[in-house]
Amino acid sequence: MKENIRRVKLSAKAAARLGLTPLAVGLLLAVPCAKAQIKEADMKSVEDKPTAVADDHLRRITPITPGGIALGEEYIPVGEEAQIDQVVALHRDVQEKADRKHTPIPRGQHPKQHGLVRAQFIVEPNLPAPLRQGVLSKPQTFQALIRFSNGRSQNDNNRDAHGMAIKLLGVKGEKVLETEQDAQTQDFIMIDNPIFFVKNVHDYVPLMRSFHRVATGNFLTKGFTGLKILLSPNYKYRLLRATGSKRPESPLQIRYWSTTPSRLGSGAMKFSVRPELAGIAPPAKSKSKDKLRLAMSAHLKQHEAIFDFLVQLQTDPDTMPVEDPTAQWDDGAAPFIKVATIRIPIQSFESKEQMEFGENLSFTPWHAVADLRPLGGINRARKKVYEAISARRHELNGVPMAEPSLSETSHFWTRSQ
Ligand code: HEM
Repeated sequence: MKENIRRVKLSAKAAARLGLTPLAVGLLLAVPCAKAQIKEADMKSVEDKPTAVADDHLRRITPITPGGIALGEEYIPVGEEAQIDQVVALHRDVQEKADRKHTPIPRGQHPKQHGLVRAQFIVEPNLPAPLRQGVLSKPQTFQALIRFSNGRSQNDNNRDAHGMAIKLLGVKGEKVLETEQDAQTQDFIMIDNPIFFVKNVHDYVPLMRSFHRVATGNFLTKGFTGLKILLSPNYKYRLLRATGSKRPESPLQIRYWSTTPSRLGSGAMKFSVRPELAGIAPPAKSKSKDKLRLAMSAHLKQHEAIFDFLVQLQTDPDTMPVEDPTAQWDDGAAPFIKVATIRIPIQSFESKEQMEFGENLSFTPWHAVADLRPLGGINRARKKVYEAISARRHELNGVPMAEPSLSETSHFWTRSQ
């Protein structure tokens, strides 16, 4: 697998300063606050006065020669690997000190599952050549499993971010994870926000430190850090609050985005999923803490759910950066293009067995073929974090961690619908 990676030096100035947590999406949600509601316009202007440290850092990973950045090219700041190790260590400590109090031990993020549903991923015919990459290379239909989740909260009435994690099955070819090269899966992971709340790993470390403090600290530490998350004007906290400010009525009736880019052949893309709602009534209002599962259940008793799967091609490496997922790629300059249909048939999905199967799955953007592999610093961090947290979660829960095959999941596809 060929990679176009350039290393650029960073000054030793990269020290920590402000602190907050990424997973704080959950926090925001757990601590409802009117201030958490940031307007849509605010989210777009990610301009947002970065700190001196972040600014300096970003200048240094920006290539010096104008026009010198290739499409899909990655820039790995010196020191990033050590920062990723810090994020992994902090995450692992939260798992040992906080997550282990629950049985079974939940995911480190997105712990509340609304449901795992079976679906079909139907690739469009006649796609233009540049889009025909990886699983999109020809018109074909994949069986898929989709897990819907909250970012943090156990109560669906709280503001939160929401996840949609798609796993295609029966995907042939070598995969990019060295430890799972023979896996037959391709994952697409998304949240209900077009951008992520942190530019790079450097800025993620202090956020993770705050999350660690909230999860493992004493009463005072938790309170102080919680306030910081709710009130700090720093860009990370503002975007975190915006990301976690959603209160949807159904996971099947909202749009989701990858926020981070992936390769698309020799170029780069972001992807998104948009619900097709023609003929579908809005869900009934509910105050149940499990209202998102109930809304999914009611919808899938009567109607299939259809989503368009869209990709947005990177056309300008400067204004559509690979290394900064807080930058929303301009939809006017590079519109999202439909490349597949996701069909979730009428079904019931709430059996204990199926819910447990979903809990024991592992999703990571690194379950991917080379032509669709994840790009950018935040994804480089996710590689180590998801692997470590999921492996330990499975070990502690006494269940094997293995990517499912089509035959192992055949019971999903042999049901009536
Ligand atoms: C450095 C940044 C990030 C870190 C450290 C992180 C960490 C994690 C961890 C530890 C998990 C649980 C893994 C497991 O136990 O199996 C997870 C799940 C998840 N993350 Fe992230 N994440 C990051 C960035 C993102 C981004 C950019 C997105 C945007 C799409 C995202 C969306 C999700 C979703 C939807 C899940 C749940 C997947 C499922 O259903 O299993 N995360 N994340």
